[in-house]
Amino acid sequence: MLIHAEIELFQDLLYIEIVIKQVEIRIEEAWQMRLFVRPEWPITALWSRGTRVMTKEYGELVDMESGCWAAVLGHNHPDVVRVIHEQVDTLLHTHQFFQTEHPEKLVEELTEAANLPTKYSGSFLSSGSEAVSLAVMLSELLTGRRKKLCMNITYLGACKDLRQPRDNMYWDDLDVTGCLGCGELRTRVCNKRSDTNEIMKDTNERNCATCGRYNHLDFSQYASFVFEPGNSGGLVLTPPEKLLKFLAGKVRATGGLLVVNEVTTGFGRTGEWFGFQHYEFLNDESNAPDLIALGKGLGNGYPISAVLARENLVMAEMTSM
Ligand SMILES: Cc1ncc(COP(=O)(O)O)c(C=O)c1O
Repeated sequence: MLIHAEIELFQDLLYIEIVIKQVEIRIEEAWQMRLFVRPEWPITALWSRGTRVMTKEYGELVDMESGCWAAVLGHNHPDVVRVIHEQVDTLLHTHQFFQTEHPEKLVEELTEAANLPTKYSGSFLSSGSEAVSLAVMLSELLTGRRKKLCMNITYLGACKDLRQPRDNMYWDDLDVTGCLGCGELRTRVCNKRSDTNEIMKDTNERNCATCGRYNHLDFSQYASFVFEPGNSGGLVLTPPEKLLKFLAGKVRATGGLLVVNEVTTGFGRTGEWFGFQHYEFLNDESNAPDLIALGKGLGNGYPISAVLARENLVMAEMTSM
């Protein structure tokens, strides 16, 4: 018992040390490169191209964050600008009774380009928060349940019901900070830069069921497990695959769904098209996420977001109506 507690304390201390080191590195790098850690106000953007933003007060700046992590192809990418111009000239707004050919085509192109493990249908909105809200709401409607499972390191959006602290009547936010380092040296996703080239095999014997940290949860109450594959609110933290497998598996075993929030991690920002693709088991057709929320990089700065829903879910719902 004592050894177990000591190991956990050691892991927590190790985790805190890693976090502090990474923050120190970031501040040091930012200082050396004369970037803004905290911008002095006012700072007025005049125009942007590629990696640069021209400001009124400070001249040309290198935008190390691609806008708010959205301009993944660079600011004002000529292809994106051209398509926006063409669309504005052709059709700017439709009533909801009309269809356009774009949504279906876009989902098809995305599925092919990103090599998604199964077929999805898509619904398009404007902001990432809306997309996450819709995905969560769909999970509630499809399961008839209200409570969701989430991790305490997860950012879901700006809406009241998504922001932390989330209402514990509807959300269980697991404190997973003690789990982040578990088996990380050998898992496919890991939290230490120096380990990314290690052989990706998890030989750590410890598993979540025997560890028991989450065995008290009643997994049958959850509409969904809402997962952000690489926490964006600060440092990029990728929870271990075995933790994911355990939580997603438990929720799904009782009829709950897996919602993946790719608003920030999508479109190549983690080295794969989508963050969930770092998790081997989620690339399997039968385990692929049920609902995927997209935003930011989808429009490369243009405000468009989406929810992708597994086609078999949509079909099942339609036939039960
Ligand atoms: C992980 C994640 N989810 C959702 C959102 C919300 O997106 P938006 O600001 O477009 O509403 C953000 C925004 O930063 C985010 O980082």
